Amino acid sequence: MFSTAIFKTSLLMEPTAVVCGPGGNKLLFANEDKLVTTWFPSTINKIFPTTAVSTGSEEGRIVRKMFEGVVNPGSLQVYAAKMDFIAKQHFEIYWENNTNVKVSPLAKLYTITVACKLFVNVDDPVKVAKFSRLLTILAAGFVSMPIDLPGTPLNKAIKAANGIRNDLYEIIRQRKVDIAENKESVPQDILTHILLNNDEYPALNIADKLLGLLMGGYNTVTSVVTFIVKYLAELPHIYNEVLNEQMEILKNKKAGDLLNREDIQKMRYSWNVACEVMRLTPPFQGAFREALTDFSYAGFSIPKGWKLYWSTYSTHFNANYFPNPKVFDPSRFEGIGPAPYTYVPFGGGPRMCPGKDYSRLVILVFMHNIVTKYKWNSVLSDEKIVVDPVPMPAKGLPIRLQPQSIFELNYSTKKNKYKIQKKVKVSYEEIIRCYKETVRVFVLAVGSLSLLSYPVIEWVGIRTDLSLDTFWDVVLQLFVYFLVEDYLHYWVHRLLHCKWGYENIHWVHHEFTAPIVLAAPYAHWAEVLLLGLPSFAGPAMVPCHMLTFWLWMILRQAEAIETHSGYNFPWSPTKYIPFYGGAEYHDYHHFVGGQSQSNFASVFTYCDYIYGTDKGYQYQKTKLHKLKERWRKQEEAHQS
Ligand code: HEM
Repeated sequence: MFSTAIFKTSLLMEPTAVVCGPGGNKLLFANEDKLVTTWFPSTINKIFPTTAVSTGSEEGRIVRKMFEGVVNPGSLQVYAAKMDFIAKQHFEIYWENNTNVKVSPLAKLYTITVACKLFVNVDDPVKVAKFSRLLTILAAGFVSMPIDLPGTPLNKAIKAANGIRNDLYEIIRQRKVDIAENKESVPQDILTHILLNNDEYPALNIADKLLGLLMGGYNTVTSVVTFIVKYLAELPHIYNEVLNEQMEILKNKKAGDLLNREDIQKMRYSWNVACEVMRLTPPFQGAFREALTDFSYAGFSIPKGWKLYWSTYSTHFNANYFPNPKVFDPSRFEGIGPAPYTYVPFGGGPRMCPGKDYSRLVILVFMHNIVTKYKWNSVLSDEKIVVDPVPMPAKGLPIRLQPQSIFELNYSTKKNKYKIQKKVKVSYEEIIRCYKETVRVFVLAVGSLSLLSYPVIEWVGIRTDLSLDTFWDVVLQLFVYFLVEDYLHYWVHRLLHCKWGYENIHWVHHEFTAPIVLAAPYAHWAEVLLLGLPSFAGPAMVPCHMLTFWLWMILRQAEAIETHSGYNFPWSPTKYIPFYGGAEYHDYHHFVGGQSQSNFASVFTYCDYIYGTDKGYQYQKTKLHKLKERWRKQEEAHQS
């Protein structure tokens, strides 16, 4: 049987009614312990033995009571700073100085590092890695066949759970002793909070619940954080909005200050973005309930003992509640936000996720740190998503990372004084590879084309006799060629930045996010030919002498070399050419990468100005100016 509100099926070998839409969600969330109660598959009861001895709703009550008040306005102040500190360390160790990283393993590490420190004050990397490994095994057994035999995922999950539980039990036992002895060194973490407020529960029971909390927040938060990175890579305008909000927060902080409660509360847009990520890619697919009595819903009768299942997807993609449901639009969460029971990534009713506020904090702190430090773009286009048990990019979301600001002021040495992206070092292997590939493309594509060069040159009227042009003729011709090339280059280049053009051709040239001289001609063969046309268009329109044509080619290549050099030399004669872009201008285009909608022109700046494609660059420049001003004032204040 099937209807849009409910259909019956069999899940985990249980007869199940799947409810869809806000009405179904309301039915289950508002009738806990009246019509329905929470039901866990037998695998979960085997992994968490204390779950089996208490009823579903009692379970929820115990967990909620233990976690009550953990994230409240007072603790937010402490946790925000602690998390920010951990996040900064994490980024420094695992992300800094890397140009290529895989996001989901690092997001996992971030999530578990924060949880271990905040829950049980564990920061030993070996112990953290052990927890992470065991939680991964545990998660795999969560939704497996309920067969507990050596080697099955369930059997491995039970062993993994026992491993973590034993460690937690030891930590709890020691902590109880420390609290009883009133030691000053008792850490102010979630475990201490739980022990001080729940002295009626035995240590093993608390260990089981702590394990449940660690488990509940491990994969889910990792998935959200990973997809935030993915969406921000794909949606530069959203990235820029998040960046603006986070930079605004950073602007008002002194160097070394950590995030506080007020900062977190200012991250409204960032949280809307995270909410939209959870709408489109909910980490939690849905959950079970069991009918406590016979009842009817939407014309279907549900017998007592049947299982019911609510799912996030049934409302999150419904156009009645979320117009254009596939479009990423954080503004859906502005004002009063989505209608009740339509947006349910954390569930609803009395069993709503107790880790919601904690998750918000972990996610926002991550967002703050990643966007204020980096820009990035995905290495793979259309990476497959697997759901096991939470959605994850199949290959771990490899990204190319660039430091946030192209203008890294406080990182200059005499040696790299004029280098634009100072922190980026291109290896010799990369340089050799770039050279070989450029030579290969030029020999094959341009070499074979040169067989046609003489007839074509003759045909367009370029002279090879001795009738040389005057000096002023040459100047005028070159001026026209630069203008024509610049204009046509702007549009061909802009076209190459459309999805198809970028993914099939232009991405090769953008492999160098911090360009080097050799990267100027480094491109796909089709691009070399395509962008050759604007260079040839001027001489075809205003034919010249062959020597002028060669001079034009030399000047155009010299210009490309300068703009790709990665260095901004203040004494370069090109600085005196009006409306000239230069190295810093084009470096910004590479720095932004595939998402770039900025600085398309090859030589001058006027096209980007007229067509409004220099806004990102101008924003960065203004930001730099303000930063410089602030640092100068801080320096002055420090001196006086
Ligand atoms: C973005 C992250 C998260 C999402 C999307 C999420 C989602 C959910 C959902 C939908 C439920 C309700 C299931 C139901 O209706 O039966 C739930 C329950 C639960 N969550 Fe989360 N969760 C997240 C993070 C966390 C974190 C960080 C923790 C722990 C700190 C946590 C701990 C729990 C626990 C213990 C339950 C069971 C509560 C009960 O038995 O009543 N979750 N979560």
